[in-house]
Amino acid sequence: MAETLVLDDPAEECAGRLASAAAEGAHVVLTGGSTPRRCYERLAGMDVDWSSATVWFSDERCVPPDDELSNYGMAKAALLDPLGDGGPDVKRMRGEEGPSAGADDYERELRESLGESMPRLDLVLLGLGPDAHVASLFPGQPTLQVGDRPVVAVPEAGMEPFVPRISLTLPAINAARQVLLLVTGESKAEAVARACGEPSEDAPGSLVRPHSGDLTLLLDQAAASRL
Ligand code: 6PG
Repeated sequence: MAETLVLDDPAEECAGRLASAAAEGAHVVLTGGSTPRRCYERLAGMDVDWSSATVWFSDERCVPPDDELSNYGMAKAALLDPLGDGGPDVKRMRGEEGPSAGADDYERELRESLGESMPRLDLVLLGLGPDAHVASLFPGQPTLQVGDRPVVAVPEAGMEPFVPRISLTLPAINAARQVLLLVTGESKAEAVARACGEPSEDAPGSLVRPHSGDLTLLLDQAAASRL
């Protein structure tokens, strides 16, 4: 089931949904890029008990955690550090290990925690690139065809920053109970329209279709302007 919400402040709505999941002790997947920062900052200021939640990541750039490109680093600064003691159990992708070893390690960690060949995460937050990529699954790349692994190595990024990546796969994303796609700004309007269109490997966002969960698009007016 897909729902599209066009909101004045999608980051606020997104923060509220993440807060509810965290309070329930959910396995919550954070994402990178610049869009979610505002949501993470809001979330950090909310009165939520994160202590029984687990935080995972949708994708990571293969850099050390303190590098300015690190997705974990952004989430740490905007959300995890401000939460202080009593925060969630944080499972970061180890970008510094490189794409292959980093993906293997994360896959092992996911399976150890969730005990399934295709782990069922409770809530997966994603952004959308201007080329309609999600996580680090870029248009036309073979990573889109991975069917049996929850995590994949991405040797070459399809967009800036051009560093190798580690990414959840489509089967892992589509096994989730809830997927949120948070997208803002006119520069993403075309990508949003493509993500809402016919499924195509040219627009990985169009392949995000949870098979037994809910998909919600949280958009501002500008991002929704071509729907
Ligand atoms: C990354 C991402 C990526 C991101 C989109 C949107 O590591 O870059 O996780 O999928 O969510 O590219 O990024 P912006 O919010 O910066 O536009």
